[in-house]
Amino acid sequence: MQDTYIPYVDLPGYALYIVLLKINSTIYSAHIILISTNYYCAQYFNTIKFAKNFFGHLRRKNLMLNWDEVDSATTDALAIKGTNTGYTSKDSTSHLDNAGISAAWEARNVTDSDSAAVVRAKAALEKLDVDKGLAERESSAARVTVDEKRMINCRADLNQLVPFKYDWAWQKYLDSCANHWMPQEVNMTADIALWKNSTGLTDDERRIVMRNLGFFSTADSLVANNLVLVLYRLITNPECRQYILRQAFEEAIHTHAYQYCIESLSMDEGEIFNMYHEIPSVAKKAAWSLKYTRSISEPKFETGTLKNDKALLRNLIAYYCVLEGIFFYCGFTQILSMGRRNKMTGVAEQFQYILRDESMHLNFGIDVINQIKIENPHLWDAKIKEETTQMILQGTQLEIEYARDTMPRGVLGMNAAIMEDYLKFIANRRLSQIGLKQEYPGTTNPFPWMSEIMDLKKEKNFFETRVIEYQTGGALSWD
Ligand SMILES: [Fe+2]
Ligand SMILES: [Fe+2]
Repeated sequence: MQDTYIPYVDLPGYALYIVLLKINSTIYSAHIILISTNYYCAQYFNTIKFAKNFFGHLRRKNLMLNWDEVDSATTDALAIKGTNTGYTSKDSTSHLDNAGISAAWEARNVTDSDSAAVVRAKAALEKLDVDKGLAERESSAARVTVDEKRMINCRADLNQLVPFKYDWAWQKYLDSCANHWMPQEVNMTADIALWKNSTGLTDDERRIVMRNLGFFSTADSLVANNLVLVLYRLITNPECRQYILRQAFEEAIHTHAYQYCIESLSMDEGEIFNMYHEIPSVAKKAAWSLKYTRSISEPKFETGTLKNDKALLRNLIAYYCVLEGIFFYCGFTQILSMGRRNKMTGVAEQFQYILRDESMHLNFGIDVINQIKIENPHLWDAKIKEETTQMILQGTQLEIEYARDTMPRGVLGMNAAIMEDYLKFIANRRLSQIGLKQEYPGTTNPFPWMSEIMDLKKEKNFFETRVIEYQTGGALSWD
């Protein structure tokens, strides 16, 4: 039996306890204590804490036990165990835990030097119920095992990052961090000169730059909103949530990059940022995407039912497979094609780095969707397969319309018809990546150079304006 605190009688404003303190394995000492509950706290829980603190204090003053003996014995054990892989802190440092708890509790005592505000802060903390606070955050307080981890509807503690279940998610997080970049690193001087030169670009080329900055400047915000308002809350796996946080930061960098281009080129910011309201081909893509955020971004929305789990799956498909997986591809191809012709090379370089990030986002999303399918096979029924195919076909159609709007005539060695072939090729890829039948048989990739850009890891600048070393932090060799 350990130290025991028995409430003997409760009086108004006071609490009387019989306390049994363990001296050694066979001897206990008995004490009676009377505590004012008004002064320390009206809660029984805190009164007990006070009693423990009080007797802990007596112990440290050697009134109850000889702590020197205990310390030296345990310290020796620690020194030996600390060198072994079998060392467990729980076994070896319990005396430190107890001393730490007591010392921390004593810090709450009011001292002469405390201001009135500090006294109020200490008093307020008396009401903090730690057990209740943690229970409200997570349903389980136990140490997490791999088998408990699930992509959705997981009941294990989400604040315990390890052990990893989805190593691919953690690896993507590491790869993304190693490929960090910032928009200001890109030289925009040539773009500014070309943009200001009235004969530097054709009207068709200017339309492409304007339309794409208009679409992307708000599209990445829509993605970021969906990540932080929907997916971070509903994906119940910590390594995936770690990647989602990284992705959210990258979306902020992308929006920053578009703003940086718009500002560098002295464009009308209001016109560009409001295109998703004013330009039909841009507005339709935004409206189509927002439809999938709106239904499940309500704070009261919870997964755990067939209907709601499917809604989450549709959201993932809408954002990762369609918005980031199809809606970006006409614009990326147009701007990068411009860079290949040595026009707007700064804007094109920004888009090149964004495309590489987006390629990772897309692959992460595909992995998440397929993992949810594996863990929840009942969700992937004929109905949602048909719905998903329709979503991807609708997205492809909207992107074909965007291609026609942005390229009413041939430009940069391409036209809307060639882009349509490319988008159908992309749509086939998206369908097969999540296990669905391809709907555009026989299409081939008219822009194989796009795949090469996406696959670049640590590369020389595609447009050969300068060499960039992206690897940073832990990925650097310090030799
Ligand atoms: Fe982005
Ligand atoms: Fe993205």
